[in-house]
Amino acid sequence: MYVVTGATGHTGSVVAKTLLKQGTKVRVIGRSAERLTSLAAEGAEPFAADLTDPAAVTKALVGAKGAYIMMPPDLASPDFRGFQNRVADAIAAAVKAAGLTHVVTLSSVGADKTEGTGPVMGLHYLEQQLNAIDGLNALHLRAGYFMENTLGQIGVIQKMGMAVGPLRPDLKLPMIATQDIGEAAANALLIQDFRQKQARELLGQRDISMSEVAQIIGKAIGRPDLPYVQAPNEQVRPALIQLGMSPNMADLILEMSAALNSGHMRALEPRSAQNTTPTSYETFVSEEFVPLYGGTSAAA
Ligand SMILES: NC(=O)c1ccc[n+]([C@@H]2O[C@H](COP(=O)([O-])OP(=O)(O)OC[C@H]3O[C@@H](n4cnc5c(N)ncnc54)[C@H](OP(=O)(O)O)[C@@H]3O)[C@@H](O)[C@H]2O)c1
Repeated sequence: MYVVTGATGHTGSVVAKTLLKQGTKVRVIGRSAERLTSLAAEGAEPFAADLTDPAAVTKALVGAKGAYIMMPPDLASPDFRGFQNRVADAIAAAVKAAGLTHVVTLSSVGADKTEGTGPVMGLHYLEQQLNAIDGLNALHLRAGYFMENTLGQIGVIQKMGMAVGPLRPDLKLPMIATQDIGEAAANALLIQDFRQKQARELLGQRDISMSEVAQIIGKAIGRPDLPYVQAPNEQVRPALIQLGMSPNMADLILEMSAALNSGHMRALEPRSAQNTTPTSYETFVSEEFVPLYGGTSAAA
């Protein structure tokens, strides 16, 4: 039996479904049993637990052959790093108490750094807490920038006729679809080809800049000249807060963006067959972005 945290989320849902397709038993974790019913209908065992509660997480992990560990983002938290540390501490205590032998964690490019990377510092902390557990085999999947982050551009394009963000237009980033992360994590759990403590990067299909993102989106939505404009922090910060982030989280996102722009936060592995994943940004845009863009357009 495998345990999947964040099972209703982007990556966890893919991990759970991929494992279920292989005929394995899967216990899926989320805060609400109700939100887990569709996975239960596919054969998973639903288990409601808050990842800040070490006793509940221990119960969830007992008897598992391995677990997919993801740090939930509580974007409205007034102390985001404090929340992340509470989750990491609870998970590490539970992994230890349950005697788990294998975990695959969702980490990020930049999790090697101890400071200056915003929310990614929480993933560094999670890696460290798990690395301190004797006898545990832990694989930290350091994923690139999620393609799903660019779905936030839908409203911006509709309002302003351009894509806007804090990243440099020419900065090439390893962008990855969360589908690819979920599949890679499920395969790692099934194969268990990792020993002791390891980090592996997942870099998507290719590196791509925000200018290219705007070009690809523009072509797909019939606005071939769609530009991308880098906005200053004074404009991005209130926009992030308006989207529901706490001021603390908005500051951490800006810190991470600066770390990406400066190269402080970057992939360390050369691109290879192992760290390259199949979904191109063009495929993501036609399968995920365009349907949502069309939907909100029609509703507007
Ligand atoms: N965005 C990026 O570019 C990027 C890059 C690398 C790494 N990451 C990392 O990716 C992670 C997010 O992964 P994701 O996108 O797969 O997640 P997601 O779609 O945001 O889903 C979060 C999941 O966590 C569950 N959850 C939320 N709070 C919880 C709590 N207190 N206790 C238990 N479960 C809780 C949610 O389920 P319920 O609501 O049903 O409880 C949901 O299933 C973050 O750690 C982020 O740092 C992001």
